[in-house]
Amino acid sequence: MKTLSKTVALVLFASGAATAQDFATNTHGAVSSTGDIQLPDVNFRASWPVLGGWTVLGEEAADGMHVVYTQPGVIESYLETGTFPDGAVLVKELLSAQTEEMTTGTVARGDQVQGWFVMVKDTKARFDGNSLWGDGWGWAFFNADDSKTTVTTNYQDDCLACHVPAQQTDWIYTQGYPVLTSGGN
Ligand code: HEC
Repeated sequence: MKTLSKTVALVLFASGAATAQDFATNTHGAVSSTGDIQLPDVNFRASWPVLGGWTVLGEEAADGMHVVYTQPGVIESYLETGTFPDGAVLVKELLSAQTEEMTTGTVARGDQVQGWFVMVKDTKARFDGNSLWGDGWGWAFFNADDSKTTVTTNYQDDCLACHVPAQQTDWIYTQGYPVLTSGGN
């Protein structure tokens, strides 16, 4: 496995050559050896940094909130290279929203979890022919009642068209994540 690209050596995977087993480890169980995708098996809300968040506006109140998490080390790696490292996992958690008058104004906050979108960076095209993988990523959606079995059957039909506006930034809506450009300062 000596031919693997140098990007593997970045912060996230400084441990050496990436095997399928390393990939499973680095993605915290999000990817099986055959390319099945599930929600990572860690409490990402507690231990992973938030990349950023989105609020979906309704007529009178917010309709939903999206909070995006990634593993420790991914942001630092991105700041260094301008790309997501192999094995980076992005989890977008969908929450229902409550809109209330508060002392700061009319404020929306997240409430109940409704599901998760997961993307896993794969710079090696490991799962060629698997319909959850392609264009440099694994793609899957999970309803809140089953974080292990995706309802996504084909990323090209279920995901890709909607991400075309972000194609120039590796399919990721990076404008929503100022930490990737400023480092948070
Ligand atoms: C209806 C259009 C639409 C579809 C379908 C869609 N996405 Fe997205 N996705 C977006 C938009 C727009 C954002 C950023 C804004 C937001 O979250 O509202 C986003 C954000 C994300 C993010 C956070 C990282 C980023 O790109 O900013 C992930 C992860 C993600 N989507 C995964 C998926 C996966 C996996 C699928 C297919 C199972 C999918 N999306 C299908 C429109 C879509």
